[in-house]
Amino acid sequence: MNAQPQAAKAQPATAQPQRPAFGSVLTSHMAVASYQGGRWSASEVKPVGPIELSPAAHVLHYASTCFEGFKAFRRADGSVHIFRMDRHIERMRQSARLLVLPEPDPLQLADMVRAVIARCRDDVPEAPGALYLRPILFGTTANIGAAATPSADASLMVLASPVWDYFAGGMKPLRILVDDEHTRSAAQMGMVKTGGNYAAAIGPTLAARAKHQVDQVLFCPGGEVQETGAANFLLLRQGELLTRSLDSTFLHGVTRDSLLTLARDNGYAVSERVFDVEEMLDWVRTGEAALSGTAAVLAGVGTLIHRGTEYRVATGDVGPLTRALRTQLVAIQQGEAPDRHGWLERV
Ligand code: COI
Repeated sequence: MNAQPQAAKAQPATAQPQRPAFGSVLTSHMAVASYQGGRWSASEVKPVGPIELSPAAHVLHYASTCFEGFKAFRRADGSVHIFRMDRHIERMRQSARLLVLPEPDPLQLADMVRAVIARCRDDVPEAPGALYLRPILFGTTANIGAAATPSADASLMVLASPVWDYFAGGMKPLRILVDDEHTRSAAQMGMVKTGGNYAAAIGPTLAARAKHQVDQVLFCPGGEVQETGAANFLLLRQGELLTRSLDSTFLHGVTRDSLLTLARDNGYAVSERVFDVEEMLDWVRTGEAALSGTAAVLAGVGTLIHRGTEYRVATGDVGPLTRALRTQLVAIQQGEAPDRHGWLERV
């Protein structure tokens, strides 16, 4: 079976004591706040349940929505630590600005996250699990004519989900289709973490899965390597890391940034620049390829498929550099290695 993201179905955490599919189980409570009349309301923690929304809500017609995804980790001593929440909140504020949605107040949003963790502390799994935090922001103004007008009102919610591996099969090497015909998103929207970008990748990913039994599509518009539907893309070989330089066309991953920082700490020459499919295929004759993201962590690629030809990535297994870098990141997240960059907040 392929290592594919598993289907999600929200239900109370208590209903499934086994490891559930990524994101399929929510904690019992969420935090909510609303924006009306030019200001944010006080936030409250309440049971997860259906929400009231006008069928004319801006988000339902004009997709005014963005989200974030980051994790909190439980240590052996029972303490809980959030990984790089500040960076995720800043990215959400950037997404909100680019979608002309009200920006969440960073202190309020951080407090909402802490409040959900405090209320659902028992649902933070032990390693190798984590609590996945999912803030969402969406436009609620009821006006189906507002195609060219931002939503004046909005809702902000923080959901949480106990998670383990995103790709079924754990460290199984991934099969990736290299698509140099389609784009994942409009060029100026790739850096916005908005549902529309993910929705746009579902069709090509399903088609590629049916035709080539792949896990993900690597979008390479115009032949330039960009990112997959759900994660950033990195190339590794002894002492070297190559990934696309930041621009508006793809998501600026916090996990990508963390891995690049660790690679630099390790003495790697880290190159952030535009590179093409030809260079990538040449690299993977001996070098490694991997997907990075909060959900994916660092997932090794075993096979690339380009225009009907299969290219084995080095030995076809998850490579040693990928394994080592993933282990190094996870050790910091789980408190088994020092947090030299101040990435963790104890809650
Ligand atoms: C994440 O890695 O947090 C994401 O948002 C990816 C999503 C497809 C689960």
